[in-house]
Amino acid sequence: MLNIVLFGPPGAGKGTQSQNLIQQYNLIHLSTGDILRGEITNGTPLGLEAKKLMDEGLLVPDEVVIGMISNKLDQNKDAKGFIFDGFPRTVAQAEALDQLLVSKSEAISAMIALEVEEEELGKRLLLRGKDSGRPDDQDPEIIKKRVHEYTTKTAPVANFYKSQGKFYSVHGLGTIENIFSDIKAVVEKL
Ligand code: AP5
Ligand code: MG
Repeated sequence: MLNIVLFGPPGAGKGTQSQNLIQQYNLIHLSTGDILRGEITNGTPLGLEAKKLMDEGLLVPDEVVIGMISNKLDQNKDAKGFIFDGFPRTVAQAEALDQLLVSKSEAISAMIALEVEEEELGKRLLLRGKDSGRPDDQDPEIIKKRVHEYTTKTAPVANFYKSQGKFYSVHGLGTIENIFSDIKAVVEKL
């Protein structure tokens, strides 16, 4: 199985490059942000709880997203592999993911980190916020909070995969096609 953690700050291009990866390698896309927004659209109790935190640019509790990922892994037993997009976002989530995969005799193949500087992230998200309808894309202060959550809680997850020899960095600035070529170059060598 090919199991890739696509990593990077808000607006780095995780969702965009996930679409390319799932097409190229026939993988299942697991984006915790997309799953949570689906819960909000459906008005579920989980969605209502998560919305308060997401609109503030804060992470939702680990146990909520770990439970969601566990369900999705169980629902896709025949998958050729998974792209984890926006998960794991804390070291506790990374540890839980390893355990879930071990219980299925599987493992993460690689973490691919998209590196993009903060000024560019803000520009991309505010631009998308004009018509995305995502409340967390509208306000520069909320975007700053998302980046702060990333820096303090999520960035350390890179060390978790570095210590396993699974960390790869890709520069996330430039055309979507060129960035995807760099990502493919990493995947082809795994
Ligand atoms: P989530 O939905 O994961 O959002 P995010 O990571 O903050 O950021 P984005 O999804 O906006 O960015 P992206 O890297 O996918 O970039 P994209 O391809 O869209 O999380 C939202 C919230 O949910 C969190 O704040 C948290 O509350 C909660 N949450 C989710 N997962 C969680 C977890 N595991 N634990 C706890 N809480 C969790 O691109 C962005 C824009 O840039 C787009 O408009 C795109 O068209 C454009 N773009 C892409 N590539 C390029 C390029 N090369 N050049 C120019 N523009 C580009
Ligand atoms: Mg995304």
